[in-house]
Amino acid sequence: MSNTIILKSRPQGTPNDSNFQFVHEKVPQPGDGEILLKSRYVSVDPYLRGRMNDAKSYIPPFKIGKPIDSGIVAEVMESKNENFKKGDHVSGRLPWKKELVSDGEGLQIVDPDKAPLSAYLGVLGLTGLTAYLGLMRIGKPEQGETLVVSGAAGAVGSVVGQIGKIMGLRVVGIAGTDEKIELLKNEFGFDVGINYKTTEDMRAALGEACPDGIDIYFDNVGGEISDAVLFHINKFARMVICGAISVYNETSIPKSISVQPFLIKNSALMQGFIVSNYAEHFPEAINALAGWLKEGKLTYEETIVEGFENIPQAFMDLFSGKNKGKMVVKI
Ligand SMILES: NC(=O)c1ccc[n+]([C@@H]2O[C@H](COP(=O)([O-])OP(=O)(O)OC[C@H]3O[C@@H](n4cnc5c(N)ncnc54)[C@H](OP(=O)(O)O)[C@@H]3O)[C@@H](O)[C@H]2O)c1
Repeated sequence: MSNTIILKSRPQGTPNDSNFQFVHEKVPQPGDGEILLKSRYVSVDPYLRGRMNDAKSYIPPFKIGKPIDSGIVAEVMESKNENFKKGDHVSGRLPWKKELVSDGEGLQIVDPDKAPLSAYLGVLGLTGLTAYLGLMRIGKPEQGETLVVSGAAGAVGSVVGQIGKIMGLRVVGIAGTDEKIELLKNEFGFDVGINYKTTEDMRAALGEACPDGIDIYFDNVGGEISDAVLFHINKFARMVICGAISVYNETSIPKSISVQPFLIKNSALMQGFIVSNYAEHFPEAINALAGWLKEGKLTYEETIVEGFENIPQAFMDLFSGKNKGKMVVKI
């Protein structure tokens, strides 16, 4: 039976089933200093799409014929490493395998009594860290300001909006279904939600939603939505460029509005970032996120898909917005 998912071919445009292959790879016995792991939760993330291209980036591309990897929470089944014991749960970047042997490097022990295991891939994992550090370090929120978040009902966006409310901001979220807009307002406390799929004039809708202009834009999607935001930015606005999912499947360089005049006119800042830039601040961020969760100030949503065989589909579904909050696969 297949226990490993490899990249069979590089997607041209939108990924499809033919890009993935299920294979069987023998699981070795753990040697000295090693642990045998069973995968429990697998994170699927939009950035994996970039790693499927053979292109230079901040992280090396996946290799054809080799397993894909992502954030995984796994259980230690057997240990010959003094840092781990049988029954521990660990989180880290691991290959898409049902079972595997690791030397433990880069793995952190996570506590299932403190939070559900899946949360270590979302609100208490890289997506929560991305939301917190992007907003706090680049967005630099000040009470009373207006924050616009695109991809607002997703893993990062839903946390960004809630932190914005904790910081005393007016928060406007952009997402792709009416159900998601209700979620933004009723569960995550956003002030206004805009469904970009049913809004004909995004520029006008943003003008209405942000009568005092936009001070911070947390961008998860890029493209036309982000172009429309530029027309409403205030003096000294900060644009936090976290992701650009709307263009990840483009096969040619997309035409975009010229940002420079907007930045000059408003003395505005636009900064891209990778969460690992802020690794030294991870403990501070986790403390804040865990504290707010405990106090009930922060909540999170997950879309949990069941079954190892459904990992590729769960990944592909990110691009059609099938998830609310963090998309994870339970093995
Ligand atoms: N810089 C970093 O270090 C870092 C770290 C983590 C994530 N990211 C980036 O942050 C963004 C969000 O990641 P996530 O993990 O939280 O994913 P996510 O938002 O949970 O999932 C992706 C969402 O994107 C939306 N989407 C898909 N295609 C779209 C399109 N063409 N236009 C507009 N929206 C579209 C969908 O929601 P709708 O129904 O609303 O369309 C979908 O649910 C991604 O761009 C990711 O690459 C960056």
